Amino acid sequence: MKIAVASDHGGYKLKEEVKKYLVLRGIKVIDLGTNSEESVDYPEYGRACARAVVDGEADRGIVCCGTGIGISIAANKVRGIRCGLCTSVEMAKLTRQHNDANMLAMGGRITDVKTALAITAAFIDTEFEGGRHQRRVDKIEE
Ligand code: RB5
Repeated sequence: MKIAVASDHGGYKLKEEVKKYLVLRGIKVIDLGTNSEESVDYPEYGRACARAVVDGEADRGIVCCGTGIGISIAANKVRGIRCGLCTSVEMAKLTRQHNDANMLAMGGRITDVKTALAITAAFIDTEFEGGRHQRRVDKIEE
């Protein structure tokens, strides 16, 4: 699996932790920035990561900003993206099982590193359930 990661300054530290975790798991990582805590605009990073996913450069994307809200809104503007903003492992499992989320968003000022890595693991390891959920995902795509 190949995962694209991106963040703004508010999510930078968390993005770096997520990246380390992915590399430890042997997952290929495409890092689309940002590369410091200097202030940048989250829509650019959300869009870049979303584009990497819809263009097939990455299988999934993980984005972080201060809250996870802005960058998930930006990612979800890209057609074909289903980005779930998660603050718990339960949400991460459900956004894979029910929404077939292809991107995960988290907030660097909201979620501690330990929880964020558990969320990341659930996002990677949980399969889509299909069935009635496929019908609903199809409606989103329409
Ligand atoms: C940046 O200060 C902050 O607004 C951003 O990281 C994010 O929380 C937006 O939703």
